[in-house]
Amino acid sequence: MCGIVGYIGDKPVLPLLINGLKRLEYRGYDSAGVAMIDQDKIWYKKRKGKIAELEVEINGFDLTSSVGLGHTRWATHGEPSEKNAHPHFDTEHKIALVHNGIIENYAQLKETLKAEGHVFASDTDSEVLVHLIAMCYDGDMAFSIRKALQLVRGTFGILVLSTHEPDKLFAARRGSPLVIGIGENETLVASDGSALVEHTRDVIYLEDNEMAVVNKHGAKVRTLQDTKVEKAVEKLPYDLVHLQKGGYPHFMLKEIFEQPETVWDSMRGRLLVEEGNAKLGGLQSCIDRMIHSSRLILTACGTSWHAALIGEYLIEKFAKIPVEVEYASEFRYRDPIISRVDTVLAITQSGETADTLAAVREAKQKGALALGMCNVVGSTIARETHAGVYLHAGPEIGVASTKAFTSQVATLALIALALGRMNQLSAEEGREIAQALKQLPDQIRQILEQASHIEKIAAKFMHHNHALYLGRGFNYPVALEGALKMKEISYIHAEGYPAAEMKHGPIALIDDQMPVIFIAVKDSVYEKVISNIEEVKARGGWVIAVVSEGDKACAKLCDEVIEIPYTIQSLMPVLTVIPFQLLAYYTAVMKGCDVDQPRNLAKSVTVE
Ligand code: M6R
Repeated sequence: MCGIVGYIGDKPVLPLLINGLKRLEYRGYDSAGVAMIDQDKIWYKKRKGKIAELEVEINGFDLTSSVGLGHTRWATHGEPSEKNAHPHFDTEHKIALVHNGIIENYAQLKETLKAEGHVFASDTDSEVLVHLIAMCYDGDMAFSIRKALQLVRGTFGILVLSTHEPDKLFAARRGSPLVIGIGENETLVASDGSALVEHTRDVIYLEDNEMAVVNKHGAKVRTLQDTKVEKAVEKLPYDLVHLQKGGYPHFMLKEIFEQPETVWDSMRGRLLVEEGNAKLGGLQSCIDRMIHSSRLILTACGTSWHAALIGEYLIEKFAKIPVEVEYASEFRYRDPIISRVDTVLAITQSGETADTLAAVREAKQKGALALGMCNVVGSTIARETHAGVYLHAGPEIGVASTKAFTSQVATLALIALALGRMNQLSAEEGREIAQALKQLPDQIRQILEQASHIEKIAAKFMHHNHALYLGRGFNYPVALEGALKMKEISYIHAEGYPAAEMKHGPIALIDDQMPVIFIAVKDSVYEKVISNIEEVKARGGWVIAVVSEGDKACAKLCDEVIEIPYTIQSLMPVLTVIPFQLLAYYTAVMKGCDVDQPRNLAKSVTVE
């Protein structure tokens, strides 16, 4: 949510900032701005809209400054507009600040500051920060920032520059991530590594309540209480090529087509096919505690929550441990009954989702074992949990999550398999599951070969305004995920339901204008789903179904079918979701929607 980038070094900063902002644009894209020190003054430009618009605005400015910062915004307080875009400035225009997060007590602070003569230019909560720093300024920027931040309630990742100390940048965080890139005679700061990787892979992650004073030779980190902190320099686990479209028109399509490899990357070295088992290094130290937990609680948001629902079915089936799934946003506030005998597993692609992070903290506070399943290496949740497992799916840039989902399900299957083998699952059953897992990448490839067939279905689908997605058992969460994918990128209203629930209400919606999308693969609930299809056809609905290869009977009943290869029932979601990702993608493209950056969304939701 919002992207921050800053640079201090020897190179002209303006193009570097614009490039960095483009890499971060997936985090927020309703307005953007840059500021830099130019001849003892702060020069800036802001623009409503995408970075490309800001780029047009600054075109022709040939500034030699080599210290500056930039921001791409996802609005929380104040509409997307030029005045609300960051950076924000103090009244004397000597300090510039960009901010990610939310300042909860901004209204009171603003009143106090106004009474002291500070003049506000925006409707944002962020602007109070820069005025507070100016109010606290006593000749030492670092001291003033620390003092100002003591007055603030809420979350922040901030980057500050000032004409008072023009050869430094100041970065501080509480709740919103910041990472510092250490290059040769240049130092960068960003809200994630994607803005740094083309300059350096050596990074320092700031922790909550830490502040860095940055110059071109590196960064000195202290806590907000002014205690020195020694930071380790770590390596970013990817390089530039992972952040490029690689010949695809959109990141989302690239990421859909990467899935044969990314699903395998999640299992590589972990899946023990011969033994019918799995070994996850990151969880080894706590696997005994997991198996003896009274229950596992899986907590997540959005697509990751859908993966958690599948995880519940997998773990209960293979390992016979009771599992509960909770929206992290509910879990954090409903004072859940959890104790030392529980294990809480937070599932999150970004590792930064504010609600999921708060759920982790709540679980830790109550003594539970808190585990993380993240894609982004070094992310806050990866670092704050007791132990965890990475997806190894590579950077996911498209705002709609695709490859992270299939990797989450595959990784949950590995966890279920490992726990199962410690519990009641026989070696033979374990081998059957492991064999099926091994075949998934090739089977995904087979489904991807039908992309043009799915594109043709999308050409008909795009004319509809509503859709129902129905599935049962392991495929019920896939129905939810299919509907989410469709609505978030094509803006077509879509709802997912367990197929049997249809007759308890949604059936009222069905007429010849209503596309109903079924998952009707050959599994233990196949016959029942067929009955549901009959019910829809009897009411004139337009039926698209994902069916098992060669199922002519079902094909006859439906208007459109997409065939998928056979796998065991519990792993079906990894396959059945692929046609839904493609259907959403092609529909959105045909409708002219911005697939990678859909309206109102952002890749990682770091505010409540
Ligand atoms: O990074 P996370 O997995 O924690 O993100 C959770 C949701 O915000 C995310 O899955 C969101 O629903 C996506 N836009 C889905 O495509």
